[in-house]
Amino acid sequence: MKQVKAWSGRFGFLAVIFLLSGCFGNENLSALDPKGPQAQWIYDNMILSLYIMAFVTLVVFAIFFYIIAKFRRKEGDNEYPKQVHGSTVLEITWTVIPILLLLVLFVPTIIGTFDFAESQAPEDVEDAVYIDVTGHQYWWQFDYEEGFTAGQEVYIPTGERVYFTLNATDVIHSFWVPALGGKIDTVPGIENTLWLEADEPGTYMGKCAELCGPSHALMDFKLIALERDDYDQWVEDMAAKADVEQPEDSSVQQGYEVFQENCISCHAVSGPGSASGPTLTNFGDRNTIAGYLDNTDEQLKAWIRNPDDFKQGNNMVPFPESEISEDEMDSLVAYLRSLNVRDGENAE
Ligand code: CUA
Repeated sequence: MKQVKAWSGRFGFLAVIFLLSGCFGNENLSALDPKGPQAQWIYDNMILSLYIMAFVTLVVFAIFFYIIAKFRRKEGDNEYPKQVHGSTVLEITWTVIPILLLLVLFVPTIIGTFDFAESQAPEDVEDAVYIDVTGHQYWWQFDYEEGFTAGQEVYIPTGERVYFTLNATDVIHSFWVPALGGKIDTVPGIENTLWLEADEPGTYMGKCAELCGPSHALMDFKLIALERDDYDQWVEDMAAKADVEQPEDSSVQQGYEVFQENCISCHAVSGPGSASGPTLTNFGDRNTIAGYLDNTDEQLKAWIRNPDDFKQGNNMVPFPESEISEDEMDSLVAYLRSLNVRDGENAE
């Protein structure tokens, strides 16, 4: 029995280390490494509640062991001790102390919760950024006020609050960028709001945090924070792309035609909004395919050939060689690569 306990203890410890290394191993996917004011607030409150819990545990155990030692049966104790019932002082003490401790947690929690749900910038803030987020099985749509849409990767300026309005088309998802802030559900028919702020430019990993189907665990996205100037440039470039239908580069003309024939009914490459699949206006800039696969030509081809191999239950139809020949596939990939506004600046 002792052996089993020792081993389970060791296993538990290893499990904790393993989990923590998982948190820190993934780039910017840790709520324990906050990179923005909201995440910092969550972290601080987590630590505060941890201290309170540690304090309670210590006090309870101290009293527990004191009582075990002091009131244990001693040599010659052969009679029942004096029996007591009820103690008003004790009852009040152990009611009031937890209430005070809960208040210490309650007040900042309520203030923060209302602050984070703020959906509008204060009036003195110019150029505040508003982005509509829509959760789909299993991808994310980001609509910008400037009349364009991005899929899977949301760009924001650094050092300011960015206001998100969140919604879903099919089932409930949850939008979560752990390094920047709290998660919030995206619910069909309901508009939720949340702001996030990134202290430094960088790529932050996001997750769907609500079980939404077989590929829920793969419903990843990226939040890319740029310096304000770079962000403005990005918006300008994306807005300019929103009007472009034909490829500017004639070498990808064949791929464009393959795309028009097979893909356009689900994927837009310009303009606002989306059909049933992710908008691909800046697909060539993406770090990943389908939110989590390395964006290489081989992966891209394999994905188009049979998406269900990678993301079970997604809505994209497969394109075997009988639909798109190997030649056409090469040209399609070249065309998709040409859909970019940042000339591969995101590649890491
Ligand atoms: Cu969407 Cu889980």
